[in-house]
Amino acid sequence: MSPLTAKIAARQYALASQGLLRRRQALAVSPPAQPQACAGPRFVLEGKSFLNFSSNDYLGLSLEPALADALHLAAKRYGVGSGASPLVTGYSEAHQALEQHLCVLTGHEAALLFCSGFSANGALMKTLFDAQDTVLADKLVHASVIDGLRDSGATLKRFLHNSTEGAGRLLARHGAAALITESVFSMDGDIAPLAELSALCRQHGSWLIVDDAHGFGVLGEQGLGANALCQEADAAGVDVQVITFGKALGCQGAAVLGSRELIDFLVSNAREYIYSTALSPANAALALAASRFALDNPQLLAGLTENIGCFTRLCREAKVPLLASATAIQPVIIGDATKTMAVAQALRELGLWVGAIRPPTVPAGSARLRLTLSARHTRADIEFCVAALSQVLTQAGGPKS
Ligand SMILES: Cc1ncc(COP(=O)(O)O)c(C=O)c1O
Repeated sequence: MSPLTAKIAARQYALASQGLLRRRQALAVSPPAQPQACAGPRFVLEGKSFLNFSSNDYLGLSLEPALADALHLAAKRYGVGSGASPLVTGYSEAHQALEQHLCVLTGHEAALLFCSGFSANGALMKTLFDAQDTVLADKLVHASVIDGLRDSGATLKRFLHNSTEGAGRLLARHGAAALITESVFSMDGDIAPLAELSALCRQHGSWLIVDDAHGFGVLGEQGLGANALCQEADAAGVDVQVITFGKALGCQGAAVLGSRELIDFLVSNAREYIYSTALSPANAALALAASRFALDNPQLLAGLTENIGCFTRLCREAKVPLLASATAIQPVIIGDATKTMAVAQALRELGLWVGAIRPPTVPAGSARLRLTLSARHTRADIEFCVAALSQVLTQAGGPKS
């Protein structure tokens, strides 16, 4: 056996023995929604239809026919790919139009598009920071931020999740270059104290960088995300905001938003931007259409808010224990990873698909079901989901037993 084959086998065996192996399943799209009560988002796996309570498609835009038409039209106009990196010939008027639109919505001066949120975060961290910098981050920030910071060589100090006190103490001690948080935390669903953090950052002369992957499209009165939320609260605001198009906008790609100086600096220095094929112009046009569609159809965000309220109320009545989340992300902590997988499997047998999240995605001992609400869920979908959860958790002896 070659050394690499042996290494692979040993690592996979170690994961398998802890119940942490991951595997993929190729889903089929469900047939068009049936005229039935449980008509929410579904997919088919091995011939069986599942009600989907696990996607980040919070507004249900990924299957919106008007956006499929927008993508088709854009592909006809611009072609199906960008054909080059942005500084060669991959940057088009479609990219520019999206950047300008996002700036108007978020209140930032300039924007830069990436093919994914992971590469946007990585590029930002690696390019902005170096070994001279100290950076503070919430304990629960996304893997892409951590990896980017590690690659940058900066000194990383973590503060307790959502603790303004912890953040303030570290800022006072280290005079950090920047503080990084998510707006809506991807695995817990709670919202960072953005107004307080922005005030602290102003006081200490540090930048506030917000990964708004799960906020843009749904956070704030019109779903305009982290900076708009700060403005609604008359707070200082966010210096750099990273938004993704693969969550509430239902499509693909991401943007870093900030000052003109920052974006010009990234254009000249961010290797992920310079040496990678640009997001396709059709995808840029699609993200613009999706954002406009969400703004033109405020009933989607209102429907999502109503569904979140309905879900949390029914869970309370059914004694299904939730974390303190008011967003579309609703975790049920199980604790043990193997038990979490068994509970998720039992739910699948009832036709309900929820995320089963294990370490290292979440801290050890906090494996969980991650349920997500969509504007497209019906009342009957939510009732079915809560009844199934309650039944399976009771059979499993309660979440934490
Ligand atoms: C908080 C957060 N940031 C960034 C990303 C990466 O975004 P993308 O899926 O566009 O790569 C994710 C994706 O799961 C996320 O949850």
